[in-house]
Amino acid sequence: MEKLLVKLYEENELSRDEIVHIINEIDAAGKKKLYDLARMKQREYYDDHVYLRGLIEFSNICRRNCLYCGIRRSNRNVERYRLKKSQIVQCCEEGYQLGYRSFVLQSGEDNYYTVHRLTALVEKIRANFPDVAITLSVGERDELTYQKLYDAGADRYLLRHETASRRLYGILHPKASYDERMDCLRVLKRIGYQVGSGFMVGLPKQTAEDLADDLLFLKELNPDMIGIGPFIPHSETPLKFMKGGSLDQTLVMIALARLIVPDSLIPATTAIGSIHPLGRELALNAGANVVMPNLSPMSVRSKYELYDNKICTTDQPDQCYHCMERRIESVGFKVNRGRGDSYRYLTQGKIDVID
Ligand code: 5AD
Ligand code: FES
Repeated sequence: MEKLLVKLYEENELSRDEIVHIINEIDAAGKKKLYDLARMKQREYYDDHVYLRGLIEFSNICRRNCLYCGIRRSNRNVERYRLKKSQIVQCCEEGYQLGYRSFVLQSGEDNYYTVHRLTALVEKIRANFPDVAITLSVGERDELTYQKLYDAGADRYLLRHETASRRLYGILHPKASYDERMDCLRVLKRIGYQVGSGFMVGLPKQTAEDLADDLLFLKELNPDMIGIGPFIPHSETPLKFMKGGSLDQTLVMIALARLIVPDSLIPATTAIGSIHPLGRELALNAGANVVMPNLSPMSVRSKYELYDNKICTTDQPDQCYHCMERRIESVGFKVNRGRGDSYRYLTQGKIDVID
């Protein structure tokens, strides 16, 4: 095991079978070694910096019906909300005062937010806060929309591939297409966004082979950001009785992602913080280097419940900011207050097109 891990660290050339072997066979000593190597690799690219992004969940209205997700269309037991442009800008204002220079605007796939409304929003934030990075996470849209949003001033786009298994993807996403989602990711890259993708760990029927494919897919896509979190069942979804993903398996996948896409930005996700009180700190120690504290208004926090027991739904934005600062420092990292662009973007700019 140790030899395999060192080979991954040094050469980054493992076969699918070798990755499957690690996922299936890694023991406690192997995990320790893996996390150490992942942390070393992170330091080679990003030193001991951890980047903060303020997350604004601006609408929980969604036209999709993903089986795992608490804000899926068929869930009638969620109070739906939609923030107005002025409220979103107000969140950014509050975040800017706290010190954030990177905002993530996330919502369900809400048709109210047409390309016009979204571009107006992005333009306003760009005009008010010229030195921040603007990240959108509003799901699948057409190429022209992505282009217009980029032209309006959006820098980054998050769209997890969710799972690289065609079979699982099909089961979990009624009426959605695996190929269309992958196409969206390629289009976003071609336009010039810094792109974030990623997947859930411990989905029902997910195998070690599926997880290896997630990593190999990411290696090929070569995104700037990689979000990995445990699947957590939500009580108002068809998957409510399923088992969730484990802390350890999620940490292993984060560490492997760090070694396989070494220059990427990897968040210690809210989901991993929700299954263990020190989940985010453990993720930072396994190769993650971003945290995304919540900046959404208090009145809507608990309504954006993608999974049960989500943390930070009762903490004010300044509490989350300072709480995260403390947590980051407690594990020996430094808070970086810049935009937090990816290494590749900073060194190569807008190239690296893959079609
Ligand atoms: N458990 C864990 N993660 C979830 N997400 C959605 N629902 C769940 C869940 N039940 C993740 C998806 C999505 C991101 C915003 O949240 O991966 O892309
Ligand atoms: Fe929200 Fe700790 S990050 S309370």
